Amino acid sequence: MVATLACAAMKQPAFEHVLSTRLSRRSVVTGAAATVGLAACAQIPTKHAPNPEGIARSSTFKSVPPQNLDVFAVAEGYRYNIVARWGDSLVSGTADFDTRRMVDTAWLDAGAVVNQEHQFGTNFDGMGYYAQVLGRAARGLICVNHEYVNAELMFPGHRGSSMKADASKAWLDKHPHAVAFMQAAHGVAVMQVYRDKDGWMRDFGARENRRITARTPMDIHGPARGHALMRTNADPTGTRVLGTFANCSAGKTPWGTYLTSEENFDDYFAGGVTVRESTKDAALVDANRRLAIREHGFYGWHHQDPRFDTRAEPNEPFRFGWMVEIDPHDPHSIPRKRTALGRFQHEGANTIIAKSGHAVAYMGDDDKFEYIYKFVSRDRFDPKNPAANRDLLDHGTLYCARYDADGTGEWLPMVHDENGPLNSRAGFANQGDVVIKARAAADLLGATPMDRPEDVEASPITGRIYVPCTKTSERGVTEDREWDGREIEVATNAANPRPDNKSGHIIEMAEAGDDATGTRFEWNVFLLAGNPAAGRYIVDARQLVPGSLTGSDTYFGGYPNAAEQSPVHCPDNLGIDPQGRLWIVTDSDGDNGMPNNGCFVVPTSGPQRGLLKQLASGPTGCEVSGCEFTPDGRTLFLCIQHPGEGGSLDKPRSHWPDGNGMPARSALLAIEREDGGTV
Ligand code: FEO
Ligand code: CA
Ligand code: CA
Repeated sequence: MVATLACAAMKQPAFEHVLSTRLSRRSVVTGAAATVGLAACAQIPTKHAPNPEGIARSSTFKSVPPQNLDVFAVAEGYRYNIVARWGDSLVSGTADFDTRRMVDTAWLDAGAVVNQEHQFGTNFDGMGYYAQVLGRAARGLICVNHEYVNAELMFPGHRGSSMKADASKAWLDKHPHAVAFMQAAHGVAVMQVYRDKDGWMRDFGARENRRITARTPMDIHGPARGHALMRTNADPTGTRVLGTFANCSAGKTPWGTYLTSEENFDDYFAGGVTVRESTKDAALVDANRRLAIREHGFYGWHHQDPRFDTRAEPNEPFRFGWMVEIDPHDPHSIPRKRTALGRFQHEGANTIIAKSGHAVAYMGDDDKFEYIYKFVSRDRFDPKNPAANRDLLDHGTLYCARYDADGTGEWLPMVHDENGPLNSRAGFANQGDVVIKARAAADLLGATPMDRPEDVEASPITGRIYVPCTKTSERGVTEDREWDGREIEVATNAANPRPDNKSGHIIEMAEAGDDATGTRFEWNVFLLAGNPAAGRYIVDARQLVPGSLTGSDTYFGGYPNAAEQSPVHCPDNLGIDPQGRLWIVTDSDGDNGMPNNGCFVVPTSGPQRGLLKQLASGPTGCEVSGCEFTPDGRTLFLCIQHPGEGGSLDKPRSHWPDGNGMPARSALLAIEREDGGTV
């Protein structure tokens, strides 16, 4: 195994030791958990058991080349089928949406809203698969996030978020059901799927099938429940909120629930500048400082739903920006917003069980120069008592991460304490203040601002944690300046070593002593993404010195041969397969000059550590998202989000997946090897 150093002074992470203890313990945990019933059909505590030959098997397929065509390309020897697209039904009794009707907006009526509440929403992002039946006739529940709406790809004549406020309002005035329709297209779909000879199919009759939308009632749990900033006219107790939206990536818990994230929720509200300039409520201004609402929302929802106008409901935005826990096995369960995990632009949360039995959730805040977080539960996971695990995420300690130049780091506890930094004099009178203003609390504690942290993933096999920082081209190339309500140092540092970081990077972490509940960790740079043929290809990690790098330098886990690598840009969601390999799906956000986004795999240990291959490439304008495996590793579920972004219905860039001049739409794919082997 190759362990690497991020700089000359860095201490060697004891990955060899971490790995061996983790593997021996995992076999015990997996075996024990497999014999007990959790929540009905819940997952075993580990996502996967390691393959018997050892971990991190290399991939044998030939990489697909980078491409810019309007096709989904997958490596030779693989096949895929489309499981569901935007508008496809979840239940018998509701038809699939007929996108041939999108030549005008005659379809956009009250009935379309009701139908959308029983169909897959749009912009598929994070996903979770919950096995119910194993083997060749596999069956399980799939949860899919519907992150946002590209109105320009949904409504003829609409220009999307680039539309001027007046024009957007005029368009909405003519379409009174548009906001309700968009709200129904957001949230999460839960559906049973099964494998047959033609691939993976929807089971319309399953009792679990349901849609969660931007209007579904959900309960507020944790320290912010009932807080003054959570109270609105419609909910004077601050305990019940309608809906979830901006659901980016996601994670599964070891007790069989789904964690969906609320990321760019601030885009949905209007009136923020007016409120800040007119209010005399200092607490309201302070709480808006690090996550400010703009004057004009991206989607115009406030024109048809007053709770999105902060001039009328200044507290409504505080009820978003959380992780939401959904029980996919119980269709009547009410989703719970877990405020103990902090409020920021949540990318996702991935949970593992520590050696001690505590649940540990790793999280990123996806904005420029924001932070990495983890939450450690107060109580222990109990594999024999599902009910005891149901609210594990309500009590515990939230931490933010500081990365030091010597390759170590510290988790900084975000705990209200009148004798500590998070006290009432600093604006934190209770733990509710800390979680609502999590960014400000992390500022005060000295967390390290990162290059847009995305879907932080802990390997259930090795315990190592992977932190994708998708990109921040401002890193190191602009003067220090005020950024989102604080003075920010934009210089490169050891954990964000590359200036003009257009292609992003991945940090690898190991908890000290393999104790995920602890406060110390070790870390190194695992990947400086980009095109290895375009700049300096670094093999020796000691050369990853901030100040000596350019934006086009690349590093692939120390793997020596650049010619074998696939170019990769802007890592976003991650996955770990049953072999322990790291999977990366990308979102370059339509950056000119980059190939279409894709799906990549890379071993993290063994002689091929860092050898990255591209399994698939998405169609024009899409981001590739999701990334989940069946427990046998034979099926990879991927999402294709917003094909055709950058165009409109009037000027389409994509017709994927339906072709024949049809409107493009998001879809969920199941990918398998033609010979039936593991992906
Ligand atoms: Fe919605 Fe962080 O990507
Ligand atoms: Ca994402
Ligand atoms: Ca993204």
